Amino acid sequence: MRIAVVGSGYVGLVAGACFADLGHEVVLVDNDERKLAALRQGQVPIHEKFLPELLTRNRGTRLQFSDDLKQAVRLSSAVFVAVGTPPTETGEADLSYVESVAREISGAIDDYKVVVEKSTVPVYTSEWIRRIILRNGADPERFDVASNPEFLREGTAVTDFLYPDRILIGCDSTRSAELLREIYAPLTGASYYRRAEAIPQPDRALIPPPLIVTSTKSAELTKHACNAFLAMKISFINAVASVCESVGANVKQVVHGIGTDSRIGPRFLNPGIGYGGSCFPKDVMAFRAVAREHGYDFGLLDEVMHINEDQRRRFLRKVNNALWTLRGKRLGVLGLAFKGGTDDIRESPAIGIVQSLLQQGCKVTAYDPAAMERTRELLGDQIGYAHSSYDAAHDADALLILTEWEEFANLDLNRIRQELKYPILIDGRNLYDPERMSAQGFTYYSVGCGASHPDGMPTAVLKNGKKA
Ligand code: UGA
Repeated sequence: MRIAVVGSGYVGLVAGACFADLGHEVVLVDNDERKLAALRQGQVPIHEKFLPELLTRNRGTRLQFSDDLKQAVRLSSAVFVAVGTPPTETGEADLSYVESVAREISGAIDDYKVVVEKSTVPVYTSEWIRRIILRNGADPERFDVASNPEFLREGTAVTDFLYPDRILIGCDSTRSAELLREIYAPLTGASYYRRAEAIPQPDRALIPPPLIVTSTKSAELTKHACNAFLAMKISFINAVASVCESVGANVKQVVHGIGTDSRIGPRFLNPGIGYGGSCFPKDVMAFRAVAREHGYDFGLLDEVMHINEDQRRRFLRKVNNALWTLRGKRLGVLGLAFKGGTDDIRESPAIGIVQSLLQQGCKVTAYDPAAMERTRELLGDQIGYAHSSYDAAHDADALLILTEWEEFANLDLNRIRQELKYPILIDGRNLYDPERMSAQGFTYYSVGCGASHPDGMPTAVLKNGKKA
């Protein structure tokens, strides 16, 4: 199958590389010449496991890069639109990039094509794309618009694409559904998984993945509802963590208790400093806005956002509780990316916290396994950049964990304690056990477990900062 993918951001690049690996002929289109040149030269613009090898083995053969959208459309049966949909000031998704791509596609429709939304877009976008394509002169018999939302997570994007829980296609015609079915046949028919060079299967992979066919509107809405639900799950457990802190309960035990209920499940119940990234904050806002626009006041989502913002404030209060005054204090920071496994700092709660600490006069030295370069572009020399976790801890008044990188869960605690000026660890990602930390001589703060001190007595931290 010949496929055009428009937009070489996270979703477009991963989808294009994976479609090529499934055996399709893919043209990845972007209007950023510098990005295209870098991709052609073999550079990989994002930190994503397995992406370098997919690009290496398909580049120049089944995967081509081009700035000529019209030509790519003419050559392809399916055109996946994966351009950005950033939030406007009022929280709605800005669909101007989608519109201009639709306009351009229109002029190149010379034969039957399916135009597929891959970007996260509000319900009704497919109708608008159809209208724009028609308005610009395309024959209505020669195209369909479909929705095929992507559920990939940064850091595990390639395996999420190739081993998905499900493939969702929203189609309003049999012809477009058949074409999309064919594109995904190597996964739904499992032939891809039998190949010797297939990307290895992660845990919990469902082989073959089910293909769910819905109306286009239902598929568009499913994507927003899915992200909003996951964000709600995180905010819910963060709210529960706050109650745990007030009453002296341990949120980890509570998570175990509720996560084993098969109706709830254990995933996305890790409390912390709140969700970030380029998806949840934007999509919860956009879903809220689209519901409002169509007459439903989805107030629950306001609370999801409110709890999320409050998590950062609560964390900063813990830093205050641990150190009293902040001006001039030296803080080591572990983690800048919005989550582990990525170099992405967009809407990173870690960056928000670092900025607040700087405003309060702290001196910050940070370490992140992947996101230092991007942080340097944003914060320059406002902070120091360490070579390792131990380097970040060196001579600091306290060490803060802000991103859930696996390596931060496996620190040599004796060495960390020796590096620190005071053995204080404030963990925004709950990577350690409070009792173990007090046994190791740390004053340890986490989320929803109270503070624990070297004497081994866990104590709840009350609103006024006094111990229970
Ligand atoms: C999210 C969804 O998980 C994907 O299914 C979706 O395809 C993607 O958005 C998208 O719409 O493109 P992603 O933003 O890469 O993926 O990251 P997640 O792993 O979902 O994490 C989002 C944020 O929630 C991170 O800041 C993470 O630290 C936080 N989080 C996650 C928690 O605080 N607790 C948890 O239990 C899980």
